[in-house]
Amino acid sequence: MVRALVLYHSLFGNTKDVALSLAKGIEETGVETVCLSIDEVIIEKISDHDFLAIGGPTHMIGLSKEMKTFLKKLNSVDLQKVKGFSFDTRNHSRLNKKRWFILENSAARKIEGKLKRMKVKIIKPRESAIVFGREGPLESDVALTFQEIGKEIGTILGS
Ligand SMILES: Cc1cc2nc3c(=O)[nH]c(=O)nc-3n(C[C@H](O)[C@H](O)[C@H](O)COP(=O)(O)O)c2cc1C
Repeated sequence: MVRALVLYHSLFGNTKDVALSLAKGIEETGVETVCLSIDEVIIEKISDHDFLAIGGPTHMIGLSKEMKTFLKKLNSVDLQKVKGFSFDTRNHSRLNKKRWFILENSAARKIEGKLKRMKVKIIKPRESAIVFGREGPLESDVALTFQEIGKEIGTILGS
């Protein structure tokens, strides 16, 4: 049985909603899927999974303080056999375009970089969901979009 773990940090609940949509999509393909906040997960159990998605809100064009701390803790885990994906929530910004590279307004870019450095195989490039203001709401089509992304990931994992 393929096992997937979706982890998130969320201050106002938007990234949590995105994580739940993603997990729902993955689960629909028959993959056993668990969705947890970074505070709930037991670090040592992460490597029991075949797939790990991590998502967080974009703060100061990068990671939230909590996500930075969590990613440091990940160093104690061997993720070399785990497949991965990253996502974030963020506002509309001219820095959202990937050509801005170093200045890209994206927590997911930093999470993806960290996963790659830990030798995680990225099976799908990072994705972002747009929120209005700091507290949301999310753009209207986000739930469906991330459910579809989840299905795509589940299909890759199952094949
Ligand atoms: C301290 C702080 C800094 C933020 N900095 C940015 C930023 O640099 N770029 C951006 O697009 N959004 C920024 N935002 C908006 C967040 O991305 C938004 O609050 C988040 O996506 C909402 O997700 P959540 O409900 O899961 O916390 C910031 C929000 C906070 C609270």
